[in-house]
Amino acid sequence: MSVMVKSEGVHKSYGSVEVLKGIDLEVRKGEVFCLIGPSGSGKSTFLRCINHLEKINAGRLYVDGELVGYRQKGDKLYELKDSEVALQRRDIGMVFQRFNLFPHMTAAENVMEAPIQVKGVSKAAAKERAHHLLERVGLGDKARNYPAQLSGGQQQRVAIARALAMDPKLMLFDEPTSALDPELVGDVLDVMRDLAESGMTMVVVTHEMGFAREVGDNLVFMDGGVVVESGDPREVLNNPRHERTQSFLSKVL
Ligand SMILES: Nc1ncnc2c1ncn2[C@@H]1O[C@H](COP(=O)(O)OP(=O)(O)O)[C@@H](O)[C@H]1O
Ligand SMILES: [Mg+2]
Repeated sequence: MSVMVKSEGVHKSYGSVEVLKGIDLEVRKGEVFCLIGPSGSGKSTFLRCINHLEKINAGRLYVDGELVGYRQKGDKLYELKDSEVALQRRDIGMVFQRFNLFPHMTAAENVMEAPIQVKGVSKAAAKERAHHLLERVGLGDKARNYPAQLSGGQQQRVAIARALAMDPKLMLFDEPTSALDPELVGDVLDVMRDLAESGMTMVVVTHEMGFAREVGDNLVFMDGGVVVESGDPREVLNNPRHERTQSFLSKVL
């Protein structure tokens, strides 16, 4: 099974507003899959559907061959119990625009928390792993710092280390650098680039076209809840075929 995420005709509405109007796409294992598009086009909603933070109204979503949030019997879908959804979500790391670290915990404690609470890892083992992961994101010397003592870029790297502590098979990034001062963006992108090189499967919503071009294996342009165009990032960015893609890129590039 070489496919990590498969989306078939995924629809999502809030009340009478249809936000996703049938998303079909496939993310292969080990791939960096970039999602771009104007504000309000449904990018965050789609990411949230992948780990079932949002329920879809129609279609099918699979992660690593498993239906997300449902069990299929014959033609019918049955919703999984919260505990079963939590088990699926455990394998999916998510990094948001805002870092959402626990403010009363040090960087190391933030990274240790889920493995201890969710996986029952011993405190000593979780601590050792946390230090290793903080080293990996370039923050080996910040383990004892509280979030308020860290820059936004450092906090975001702690958030990435925290997600990695659960050994995810898939990482979702929702505009991870959008809230950062420009000079802090590079360090976060470097960590993401390293992660990509290590073979992690990543779905990345971003406005960093340089990152998409250099690191992305695939790029999708979404607008109005549909995939307008997709393909090799260099191809899509250099030669957008659709007028809507051209118009968007002319504003952001
Ligand atoms: N919880 C919600 N309730 C109602 N509408 C929502 C909710 N979340 C998002 N939307 C709407 O869905 C559309 C897509 O939003 P979103 O997925 O956040 O877009 P993007 O991430 O591409 O900017 C927007 O019009 C937004 O207002
Ligand atoms: Mg968004």
